[in-house]
Amino acid sequence: MTGPPLSLWRVAPPEASRAESGTGTVALAAPMPAASAGAFSVWFHEAMRRGCRRSQDVEVWLPAYRGKSLVRLLTWLVTERLAGPGAAVTWRLDKRQGPDSVARMLTALGWAGITRKRDGRVIELTGQPPATVSMPDPECFTERIGGQDLTFSADYGVFSPRRVDDGTALLAAVALSQPAVDTVADIGIGYGALAIALMVNETARSAVATDVDSVALWLAEANARRYAVDLKVTCTPNPLDVPPTPLTVCNMPTHIDASSSGALMAGLVQRTRRGRLLLVVHRALEGRYTRHLANAGLVVDRHPGPAHVVLAARARRSP
Ligand SMILES: C[S@@+](CC[C@H](N)C(=O)[O-])C[C@H]1O[C@@H](n2cnc3c(N)ncnc32)[C@H](O)[C@@H]1O
Repeated sequence: MTGPPLSLWRVAPPEASRAESGTGTVALAAPMPAASAGAFSVWFHEAMRRGCRRSQDVEVWLPAYRGKSLVRLLTWLVTERLAGPGAAVTWRLDKRQGPDSVARMLTALGWAGITRKRDGRVIELTGQPPATVSMPDPECFTERIGGQDLTFSADYGVFSPRRVDDGTALLAAVALSQPAVDTVADIGIGYGALAIALMVNETARSAVATDVDSVALWLAEANARRYAVDLKVTCTPNPLDVPPTPLTVCNMPTHIDASSSGALMAGLVQRTRRGRLLLVVHRALEGRYTRHLANAGLVVDRHPGPAHVVLAARARRSP
């Protein structure tokens, strides 16, 4: 990435992102700040893989609920991609996020001259990053899916980080028992367990995927590289932002608000006009999702497991 240096890089979740002229944003999750003249935005998973214009001023808005291990990963991003020589870097966090232990972590990681200031409820830790830092290894685990033992990097507060979720495993088993496809779409891919399992087990030759979490997408890309499988990811809440595919799979995110859930389901229904859908939900929610798909005119079959159910939906054939 070329051009004049930026006056500020901000690494931030959506609620703290703003597009100000001359500044750059590394977006940790969708939505990205709206484009505006002279402002520059890049997804976290993209900033991790390519060089960026450096800045003498960097702000890191540490997201809550992602675990302290994210501090190490963001130190790598700041040091190796964003901060120019002698840059001042400010970490902004709520006092409930443990600023003292974050300051100790930064010192142990080689940060120098850390000072502490308070701005309302926010604590600011400012210091100089080390000259260089090695890429941290995310936590990982190995599990058998289909006929393959698969190792997944899964860390930084992503869904089901210690083992493959039971719903994901049920959806994989149903998809693996069905005809192979050229390309599968995995909507809400997380760290990639489902799409990668389908490709490694040769049920799909390639995959396209979405998620609203750019850190999860970075893990999914890293996991796909481990198996040299063809995965293209897009950070978006809209399932229609990836091309139509003969098969779409989704382990439905159920802790999102009603309007996001409605928009996601509407996009999944649209995709099903052009290909099959396998959607896994907890059995307690089966009625609600079955009604949604059936009311949209789709034919729905069920594949129940102990706690989850896979809803297999397809368009009704015209008479
Ligand atoms: C139940 S988890 C499933 C993750 C992964 N597919 C698995 O099975 O391990 C749901 C995922 O959907 C993502 N998500 C939430 N809303 C979304 C949306 N509108 N579009 C795409 N992904 C979304 C979450 O960030 C999360 O990674």
